[in-house]
Amino acid sequence: MNRADFIELGYLVGASLFILGLKGLGRPRTARRGNLLGAAGMLVAILVTLIDQAIVSYWVLAAGLAVGSAIGVLLAVKVQMTSMPELVALFNGFGGAASVLVAGASFIEAVDLGLVDDQTSVAAAATAIIGAVTFTGSVVAFAKLRESLHWHGFAGIRIVNAVLALVSLGLAVMVVVDPGNTMWLWALVAVGAVLGLLVVVPIGGADMPVVIALLNSLSGLAASSTGFVLDNTLLIIAGALVGASGIILTQIMSVAMNRSALSVLFADAPSAGGGMDADEVYAGKITKTSAEEVAMILETANRVMIVPGYGLAVAQAQHAVSELAKLLEANDTEVVFAIHPVAGRMPGHMNVLLAEAEIDYEKLLEMDAANPTFAQTDVAIVLGANDVVNPSANTDPDSPIAGMPVLEVGDAQTVIVIKRSLSPGFAGIPNPLFAADNALMLFGDGKAAVTAINKALAEG
Ligand code: TAP
Repeated sequence: MNRADFIELGYLVGASLFILGLKGLGRPRTARRGNLLGAAGMLVAILVTLIDQAIVSYWVLAAGLAVGSAIGVLLAVKVQMTSMPELVALFNGFGGAASVLVAGASFIEAVDLGLVDDQTSVAAAATAIIGAVTFTGSVVAFAKLRESLHWHGFAGIRIVNAVLALVSLGLAVMVVVDPGNTMWLWALVAVGAVLGLLVVVPIGGADMPVVIALLNSLSGLAASSTGFVLDNTLLIIAGALVGASGIILTQIMSVAMNRSALSVLFADAPSAGGGMDADEVYAGKITKTSAEEVAMILETANRVMIVPGYGLAVAQAQHAVSELAKLLEANDTEVVFAIHPVAGRMPGHMNVLLAEAEIDYEKLLEMDAANPTFAQTDVAIVLGANDVVNPSANTDPDSPIAGMPVLEVGDAQTVIVIKRSLSPGFAGIPNPLFAADNALMLFGDGKAAVTAINKALAEG
């Protein structure tokens, strides 16, 4: 076996490990093994690439590795779990920017050496536009998630975007037709960067989960097309896997929010604010409760459904909730968790937190399985969730979340809502559930409130 065969074989092993890893990640029971297989695939990929691309000095690589690792460790230690989605948005953006730089540099080198062919120029053009859109789009998504950007663009922005899309198509053709002039490539990057910015700017906060998933997919496609520029099989496959899984995630998020990816990108965002005013919804209709009263209600319940939301992550209440479940089960109460697909701020946010507290995966019900069983539930505990249990999604056509499927907690006999105040959630709208006849509000930090309930239960 010669060196080239050895390298191709190494890439094949790496790619196979990625695919097996993804397969394992599809199920909670095999997820840990899947993760290890993926990591092993990455190790093989790095080693083979180091042998393959021997033209780059190992000192330069080591310096890059040291700087990157230092930034990675710093971010991992400093960034709060609740800010993870912003970080993921940035990662997608940097993935796009890295693809543009690597593919751009390789394209210029090929032009200088007179080695540029159609595959290289088509792939470089595709990377330039996809990578640039991903970079600026992700930066805007990051700023919107942090709520530090409130600009929604200007009238006619969609038309400007359509024109920019056509211009970038024209520039991409020029990159292929006239590859000797690298100006076309950088012009394409510039137009792509403006396009990414203007496409994401008008998108409302409520649609951000769909946008992040889509940008994640785009970052994979940019990496994949970079693989074609570099002639690197593994990068093509790994990028395609990220692209495909991002598209699947986009589809899941879209269904969960009753939006289509196309309508998120090209239709006007649903009206912000909705038709209801908080005072109108809540005045005189809120019933407060205490941890002791909640403990008394729970002592006689046969079935309890816990609905976690973003507030669980903020309060880091997962261990207290795990303790609550154990106390209730010791009293022969059935305890299950209802998980909305967009609860929290990133896909799988609640699952990760509950798994950390070693709550059995079998007890987690997805929305479709949970909704028909609320009617047979004695107590639904809404812990730091708001938008995902807001009935106005079904009843108010002017609501920004109109049509989004929600957890029908109001069907339970008693609903206990744990949150600090009547403040709205991510969508910024009031929630009529809190004013319902069967709803009791336990105001306070999620962890402190659940700990107080546990104490009252333990004291009997
Ligand atoms: P939200 O609707 O955002 O509501 C969270 C609630 O948690 C708030 O009303 C807040 O009320 C409460 N809270 C905050 N800190 C708390 C604490 N320490 N203790 C107790 N409660 C606390 O959350 P949700 O129901 O999970 O819905 C998620 C929303 O985020 C959806 O609109 C979704 O579209 C959006 N989103 C989701 C994703 C993904 S992929 N999951 C990504 C981006 C956006 P108080 O301030 O009164 O405590």
